[in-house]
Amino acid sequence: MTDPDDAHPATGADLRRGPFRPGDRVQLTDPKGRLHTITLEPGATFHTHRGHVRHDDLLGAPDGSVVRHSSGADYLALRPLLSDYVLSMPRGAQVVYPKDAGQIVTYADIYPGATVVEAGVGSGALSLSLLRAVGVSGRLLSFERREDFAEIARANARAFFGRDHPAWSVTVGDLVETLPRSVAPGSVDRVVLDMLAPWECLDVVHEALAPGGVLICYVATATQLSRVAETARTHGGWTEPQAWESLVRGWHLEGLAVRPQHRMHGHTGFLLTVRRLAAGTAAPLLKRRPAKGAYGEDYVPHDEGEWSAEELGERAVSAKRVRRTARDARATADAREAGDNWEPEDPGATADAREPEDPGATGDEGNS
Ligand SMILES: C[S@@+](CC[C@H](N)C(=O)[O-])C[C@H]1O[C@@H](n2cnc3c(N)ncnc32)[C@H](O)[C@@H]1O
Repeated sequence: MTDPDDAHPATGADLRRGPFRPGDRVQLTDPKGRLHTITLEPGATFHTHRGHVRHDDLLGAPDGSVVRHSSGADYLALRPLLSDYVLSMPRGAQVVYPKDAGQIVTYADIYPGATVVEAGVGSGALSLSLLRAVGVSGRLLSFERREDFAEIARANARAFFGRDHPAWSVTVGDLVETLPRSVAPGSVDRVVLDMLAPWECLDVVHEALAPGGVLICYVATATQLSRVAETARTHGGWTEPQAWESLVRGWHLEGLAVRPQHRMHGHTGFLLTVRRLAAGTAAPLLKRRPAKGAYGEDYVPHDEGEWSAEELGERAVSAKRVRRTARDARATADAREAGDNWEPEDPGATADAREPEDPGATGDEGNS
């Protein structure tokens, strides 16, 4: 039996197969292992300080081809995977890293056909994983209070899927105000919160979730983790919070030198899950207030002090940078859509174009 998601154009599956076309994002790996992401355009060139790669040499070539740089060096060309794409796409806000997106999809139990609420959207990195998981038969209702970030996220998703994903809606506004107006009580299966103050949303999320539904929160600091856990416990309509972090350490593989890489991302964020209890259910858990002094003497309740990105150690993004990012994201999405109907005029000629212009030059380059 065929899966409707396989055949549906909105999954972007058609754009991930076949020869390179205009509008495709392609990741080039240079001889030193450095990555360069380009968007293919007929007649365009990708410049480095030593020369250039012609986009025409890639158009029509199969994914996984090697293209020759004008200096004679070979560059490997591959379509980025989702995990590559989210790290190279235009960003407004900080993105959820692929290792955490994988954990979120698994531990929040996001499944095809589910109705999922997400806030905030930021740059849309996590939205892409959630859309893949709910598929065209599910619904992802995303909420973002910044219009400019929502625009970047929409463009990033359009560039990734090649068109607007039919399961996705983005509402601009604060989740606390907009969620009750957008969904019927008890109609949501899963909620994913990636924002500074998720504890402020627990009441509306509880109302929206179906009994047994999962809430997962992604937070950057231990103080946020503690605050959301204590707020959920005080509320009483949730299961006991579960929290964890994941550390991923890459390995260096070279002959007998098989060992962990020296560098790794030491910290991205913490995850916390709770499940909504049925209405009127007394949790078989100790319903308790935070222990006296648990927040310490210097703790400032949220309504007395503002939680800001800067206070939590995040870098502020200038309005000018966000405008430029939105412009870049739109241009990439437009190029992707425009390239959809492109066919190579003469596949034979395109294949030849990948041959080195001057094979002798390659040898000379290698010796220099
Ligand atoms: C770290 S970013 C989200 C990144 C996103 N998950 C990604 O992977 O690209 C946090 C976002 O939450 C938004 N936000 C914070 N509080 C919100 C709220 N109460 N309602 C809606 N959006 C909110 C912020 O504007 C910001 O864009």
